Amino acid sequence: MSAIQKTQKQAAALREQIQYHNHRYYVLDDPEVPDAEYDRLFRELQKIESTYPSLITTDSPTQRVGALPLSSFDEVKHAIPMLSLGNAFSDEEVEKFGKRISDRLNVTDIQLVAEPKLDGLAISLLYEDGVLVRAATRGDGVTGENVTQNVRTIHSVPLRLVGSDYPRLLEVRGEVYMPKQGFEALNKRQKQNNEKLFANPRNAAAGSLRQLDSKITATRPLAIFCYGVGQVEGKKMPSRHSEVLECLKAWGLRVCPEIKVVKGIEKCLDYYRHIGEQRNSLPYEIDGVVYKVNRLDQQETLGFVSRAPRWAIAHKFPAQEELTKLLAIDVQVGRTGAITPVARLEPVEVGGVTVTNATLHNQDEIERMDVRVGDTVVVYRAGDVIPKVASVIKSRRPKKSRKYKMPTHCPECGSELVRAEGEAILRCSGGLCCPAQRKEAIKHFASRRAMDIEGLGDKLVDQLVDAELINDVADLYLLKSDELAGLERMANKSAENLIAALESSKLTTLAKFIYSLGIREVGEATALNLANHFGRLELVESADTEKLLEVADVGPVVASNIVTFFQQAHNLDVISKLREAEVSWPDVDVVDADTLPMAGKTVVLTGTLTKMTRNDAKQNLQKLGAKVSGSVSKKTDIVVAGESAGSKLEKAQALGVEVINEEAFIKLIDSYKG
Ligand code: IVH
Repeated sequence: MSAIQKTQKQAAALREQIQYHNHRYYVLDDPEVPDAEYDRLFRELQKIESTYPSLITTDSPTQRVGALPLSSFDEVKHAIPMLSLGNAFSDEEVEKFGKRISDRLNVTDIQLVAEPKLDGLAISLLYEDGVLVRAATRGDGVTGENVTQNVRTIHSVPLRLVGSDYPRLLEVRGEVYMPKQGFEALNKRQKQNNEKLFANPRNAAAGSLRQLDSKITATRPLAIFCYGVGQVEGKKMPSRHSEVLECLKAWGLRVCPEIKVVKGIEKCLDYYRHIGEQRNSLPYEIDGVVYKVNRLDQQETLGFVSRAPRWAIAHKFPAQEELTKLLAIDVQVGRTGAITPVARLEPVEVGGVTVTNATLHNQDEIERMDVRVGDTVVVYRAGDVIPKVASVIKSRRPKKSRKYKMPTHCPECGSELVRAEGEAILRCSGGLCCPAQRKEAIKHFASRRAMDIEGLGDKLVDQLVDAELINDVADLYLLKSDELAGLERMANKSAENLIAALESSKLTTLAKFIYSLGIREVGEATALNLANHFGRLELVESADTEKLLEVADVGPVVASNIVTFFQQAHNLDVISKLREAEVSWPDVDVVDADTLPMAGKTVVLTGTLTKMTRNDAKQNLQKLGAKVSGSVSKKTDIVVAGESAGSKLEKAQALGVEVINEEAFIKLIDSYKG
């Protein structure tokens, strides 16, 4: 064998290994080797290819990016049209679909495949002899655009199929989408670079796939799920859709793991409800589910009506976006004085909930959208997120509308609104002189995770401040039950209960006390770190920035917030008044965080815990030195999976992260405590 033949063989072997690891990482979500090993193989191949450019192949993993920008996309005529799906918006419509197919086929309890309806854009991938030769968008279903260069940059799209038993010609169809996490990160990046934000992951995916410069697409976190085939030549495909999907998986293509084979329409509806519950925790957006008749011969018998198959239907979730009219823009003052513009809306039902208010985030957002009173706006609401105004329908703008101007003074106290350099938000400069900020500070102080004063709800705090019975949190402990009994809707009994609740809140922990002070950006975890690090409040009060930076998770911004807080005479006053009122906590034995039994361990909690709250579990872990994270990655050490754990559990399993149930978790904590 000549030297060049040897090198060629070596390159081929490297490609095969890289392709294998690529598949494990991007398609199966189950990497086998550390990233460094993958990088090493990749660089080795790059080195060979740069020395011998003639050895480069189009399916080489080094060739995902690198094509020159296009001036336009070529047209692609689909050999078999890419159809769309009929929609169903209710159980009844799905039942009708079931009846239609049963009647036509003359069979009951038909086997169907239920799949998430992915919210991205349809794509056709053409493989010749196992090599990706063309990728095209759906377009109008008959003619699409050639986006091969862009699709090649998507890591979960194999450039070469796995194995050897694939058809000579295989057209795979699927959905290109942007995972939620990637979408958030992309928008964050766009914002930092002063570039346009994407309204949702679908738009972001579409915008990214239609870039003329594939180098830009390569920076976008796109992924694919394949859900069917188009043109196939040179091999007989299996006789069921579910088996076709299995083939696709075996050939290295990514198929959605939530897909299920079900029997009969009832089971389809169960699936719809199950996926609906999972929806928020799935790592990608879906807008419904799709039911497809599984047997391909039955599909053929059923055929098509106009542009949609009779053998499939999309069962959509209620819309997450609706149009409504913006009646007014108000601003709200938060605990730290942050001003949030709020849109008052003509009531509209979005996803089953009536929305009358939606956030407009901040001044920059208002300016970016140029949203005006009287505008018709798109309101977006998903799961438990706060409804937001997503965009403005400019074409429906009333003629006489005027640009919205943010107020210059606080609507609550009249103090000037200021905008700190580099910050997007306006703040009221009134501090605790501003009743709105005072109220919010007291509400925070009383809340369950802070001083936990039972019965002191938001409405009561508003009343107490408005009646000037309290000015700050320390005044709470001076309240007398007869003063309280004079308030509207306050019976003697509730007044006494509140006094008792105040009394029992006095004994707290240092961490909770620090948290309840409401120092900007000092959340529960930081408060706990501060308490464990310093042990006594006096030491936190007197710590300078340098000392504070030694505390886990405290960066320069938080450190400076803490220093500023304790420099304010009125804050120190309130603290001493609280101590006088006998608010107390035991000092904390200071331990070196690195010596804690679970130091350096990252734990993710998922699913429902039955023996403790999620928050208790978190605190237990933090006390042991563990870090509690919200998402599973290769760096996760343990995943605690409670009841009906979903995608995080699956991801942990795919990544080979240790998973324990609640019982084992309790044992683990107890073993350290013991
Ligand atoms: S099957 C003839 N399966 O929905 C069958 N489509 O409304 C055509 N989509 O253009 C497609 N998830 O972009 C199918 N699991 C899924 C899907 C899915 C999302 C999209 C696809 C298609 C549109 C049809």
